[in-house]
Amino acid sequence: MSSLKYLFVIPVLVALLAYFYPSDYDYENDMNERLQQILSGLLRAEKKIAQPKAKIAIGFGGCQDMFVDGLALLDALKFEAPENPEHFMSVDTQQELTKMMAYFFQHGAAAERYVGNDTLFNQLTRVAKTIPGYREAIGGNAPAMAQRLAQEGAEVLLAAKLSNNARKAMHSSLHILGDVLEEDDIHLILEYKTGDKWGKFTSPRANRFIVHSDNSNPLLETVDDLEKEILKFDPSVLVVGGLQMMDNFPFQEGQMESRLGKLRSLLATLPRKINTHFEMASFSDPALLQKIISTVVEYSDSLGMNEQELPNLVSILQYGNVSLLSDAHPRVASVLDQMRQVYKLLKNTKEVDGKRKLTRLHVHTLAYQAILTTKGSPWKNTMSATAKASLTAHRHVCGSNWIHTQKSKLLLDDSFSSSISASSTRIPVHEKRPVSCWDEDDYQICVAPVLVCTQVKQTAGGGDNISSAGLLVQVN
Ligand SMILES: *[C@@H]1O[C@H](CO)[C@@H](O)[C@H](O)[C@H]1NC(C)=O
Ligand SMILES: *[C@@H]1O[C@H](CO)[C@@H](O)[C@H](O)[C@H]1NC(C)=O
Ligand SMILES: *[C@@H]1O[C@H](CO)[C@@H](O)[C@H](O)[C@H]1NC(C)=O
Repeated sequence: MSSLKYLFVIPVLVALLAYFYPSDYDYENDMNERLQQILSGLLRAEKKIAQPKAKIAIGFGGCQDMFVDGLALLDALKFEAPENPEHFMSVDTQQELTKMMAYFFQHGAAAERYVGNDTLFNQLTRVAKTIPGYREAIGGNAPAMAQRLAQEGAEVLLAAKLSNNARKAMHSSLHILGDVLEEDDIHLILEYKTGDKWGKFTSPRANRFIVHSDNSNPLLETVDDLEKEILKFDPSVLVVGGLQMMDNFPFQEGQMESRLGKLRSLLATLPRKINTHFEMASFSDPALLQKIISTVVEYSDSLGMNEQELPNLVSILQYGNVSLLSDAHPRVASVLDQMRQVYKLLKNTKEVDGKRKLTRLHVHTLAYQAILTTKGSPWKNTMSATAKASLTAHRHVCGSNWIHTQKSKLLLDDSFSSSISASSTRIPVHEKRPVSCWDEDDYQICVAPVLVCTQVKQTAGGGDNISSAGLLVQVN
């Protein structure tokens, strides 16, 4: 057979090519080729679905985001890096601020904490405005998600108390509920980059530490407004986010329980055809998170979260405690195992008194997106949704709609294990069909690699954009 001789010719050709081309050159060319193919594959998957004209309601809260180079701010204030990082429930002093910043910075973990000391908070925001590169934007989970969804063409009802300035900056098609605030609550976002050095610490990835001293958001005041309007609006999904503003807020006795109780009764009385999605966030108070499980999570069809929030949810569901920090670069296998754990715990929720079984779980990480959906549930197009989430992650962080492979890198290998258990299978990441989807039991899982942006413009708000982009593709 003549084909036999190629068996010898090809290795010789390869050896010759390898001899004539320096190896770096080949490697970079191959990488870029692979990135190009994966990008085309993701774009094809994204285009498969015409954007549905969905109606979506979103709560709660909003704020003004102040973005600042975190290390430049601390430097200007002469707040030095501590010797020993430490975690506190909230921030009251300079020492607590620097120790807590170091605690999350050294792991590159996103976190958000309440500052009880107004003098300190005002000092931080005053000096932040003088730091080069300082910028402001309308923020908060609910407004960020609402903006994203409106930009994608959805009709959105937003429950958030905002100032007139903030309202003017929002997409013109948004219906905004809630009184007008004199002044927005402020969130100060201390950003840092991969490899930044502070004292003896180096950050393993770009991320941010957020501090706030909200007065309005923790009280979830717009729950009452939403309750009055939601049936008239008749959305296909209600998205709940922004509850982390309640974390360690100095509530009066019984106030936290009563506000969450109000939210629970709104969720419990919704008609079944309105699906509910809860967007997790950074929580450190186990009592609050426990309460959120019984008032919100058990009433949610769908959950969205990042790689830090997933282990925290597993901890609270399984042991009743919180996990403050976890691996910033978790393997796919361990994330999928944790997703299965959460799904098993919540898929059997008894559908009584308005409670709902979990049928969708979206986890976003730096390197990949993973979405689990129950077969036969109302959630459609899981493959396209995973691709959309992945592309949105790049677009958000690079701050551009157009994706350059030169500004991208892949952190996900050519294949991954489906589980850390010995019986797991290896799943290849095909360049031409980069979203891997497969069935298990009564659900489907899809995983898509992220073209990780190497020229970071912003990290805050990423989760909101990514989750809402993925969610919209899945509703009708
Ligand atoms: C609040 O912060 C200011 C400024 O850093 C500090 O002087 C003051 O001692 C702090 N107050 C408390 C109660 O810790
Ligand atoms: C939570 O509790 C479990 C069981 O007691 C324990 O194994 C785990 O280490 C605890 N997690 C944290 C973060 O404290
Ligand atoms: C993410 O959301 C923010 C706020 O709505 C918006 O300014 C930004 O452009 C969004 N990013 C992407 C990639 O759409």
